Amino acid sequence: MKRVLFVASECVPFIKTGGLADVVGSLPKCFDKEEYDVRVILPKYQCMKEEWKSQMKYKAHFYMNLAWRTQYVGVLEMKYEGIQFYFIDNEYYFAGMQPYGRIYEDVEKFAFFSKAVLSALPTLDFKPDIIHCHDWQTGLIPVFLKDRFRENDFYWNIKSIMTIHNLKFQGVWDIKTIRDITGLPEYYFTPDKLEFKKDANYLKGGIVYADAVTTVSRTYAEEIKDPFYGEGLEGLMQARSNCLTGIVNGIDYEEYDPATDKYIAHNYSVENFRKEKIKNKRALQEELGLPKDDKKFMIGVVSRLTDQKGFDLIAYIMDELCQEDIQLVVLGTGEERYENMFRHFDWKYNDKVRANIYYSEAMSHKIYASCDAFLMPSLFEPCGLSQLMSLRYGTVPIVRETGGLKDTVEPYNEYEGTGTGFGFCNYNAHEMLGIIRYAKKIYETKKREWNKIVERGMKADFSWHASAKQYEEIYKNL
Ligand code: ADP
Ligand code: GLC
Repeated sequence: MKRVLFVASECVPFIKTGGLADVVGSLPKCFDKEEYDVRVILPKYQCMKEEWKSQMKYKAHFYMNLAWRTQYVGVLEMKYEGIQFYFIDNEYYFAGMQPYGRIYEDVEKFAFFSKAVLSALPTLDFKPDIIHCHDWQTGLIPVFLKDRFRENDFYWNIKSIMTIHNLKFQGVWDIKTIRDITGLPEYYFTPDKLEFKKDANYLKGGIVYADAVTTVSRTYAEEIKDPFYGEGLEGLMQARSNCLTGIVNGIDYEEYDPATDKYIAHNYSVENFRKEKIKNKRALQEELGLPKDDKKFMIGVVSRLTDQKGFDLIAYIMDELCQEDIQLVVLGTGEERYENMFRHFDWKYNDKVRANIYYSEAMSHKIYASCDAFLMPSLFEPCGLSQLMSLRYGTVPIVRETGGLKDTVEPYNEYEGTGTGFGFCNYNAHEMLGIIRYAKKIYETKKREWNKIVERGMKADFSWHASAKQYEEIYKNL
């Protein structure tokens, strides 16, 4: 039996800001229970719903040094859907309306969290063989593990894995402050270790010190060796390429299942989508006050509204796109300029565009189930889960062919009758518009072909099954 501890800053259903939470919440359930005992440890944020906080049980507490500070560490636990969860409690660090956001606070918060996780291990009755770290917030764990903790017998043979969900976010702050926060000696702050352009970099520390490094798709694992995607760490990614594996994400096939989904107006499956899926479109048109018309090509967007997701391309051609006979339903929050851009077009083309500028699990499921196509023209995309959800719900993804989008959406080939979506290659607004128009043409003039694209998408398997096996391989080899 191998024991693995996932460490992360977010996880469904407890707290979510993006796809990381989906991954950490769904992957642990998918390992072979006979051979792997996988548990998860998270911060206990004040902003978590009372529903969850009230179920957490006290396990232990102690005081821990973080350089010159002495801090309280509470440990709580809870079982959920068969998985053992632990939570690190500290009301000072984990206060606030959001789990994170201000980097100068976050660097201290997650230095605390990372050290607290390691310090709490002896209180858990669970000694992991492997600590599986996710993103920069946990980047110091492999570093701490090879530093002081090494000297203690309890820790010396624990291995660590660093999974990169997004290389854009690295946790960078000035060395002086980070030394003051972590108490790590000067030795660590050189360009071959944590130093990055004269500053300290948590994710870099994790990548340098982890025993294995993974990222969330094969293509992204290659892309990040290149300066365009490497965010300044391309050299390190090349140097670590022997230990770097790209494993594509899956989604929770029970949570995201059009046949049983409680959020959507009408359930359907790959057997009856030709008749039944349309009922969701009608319901959404009704709910959002859009013209009720089965034939309108309805495009969905569910996303953080940031540059990463290609919204500057969309902004560039919005007027042109709205000359077409389409409906565009957007759900997202993020950068103000994009929020206002969609509000503006909702006002300007009120019979075509709906800007839902908020966060809603329910509305996201309705969009995945109701639209004909799903637009995701990302500048870069480590994996992307929204396109997988769309495929599962028979909503045809239109994507830029980068990262995980390239690995999961097979572009339609009208000559061979293959493909599950539509793709364009260059980061160019009119190339995107061209492919949207092409998709619309297939939808309007070759409905049988369109339905076959839908069917192939719904039949593709993006559950965790295959990817969990690949993680198991890495665990075995460590
Ligand atoms: P990223 O992690 O980069 O944001 P992913 O595609 O991996 O992108 O994951 C995004 C996740 O967040 C999906 O589960 C998506 O449905 C969800 N999501 C994004 N924005 C919203 C929103 N406004 N309301 C509900 N869910 C959202
Ligand atoms: C990050 C990436 C996204 C990925 C998610 C989960 O948020 O932006 O592409 O799907 O992590 O791995």
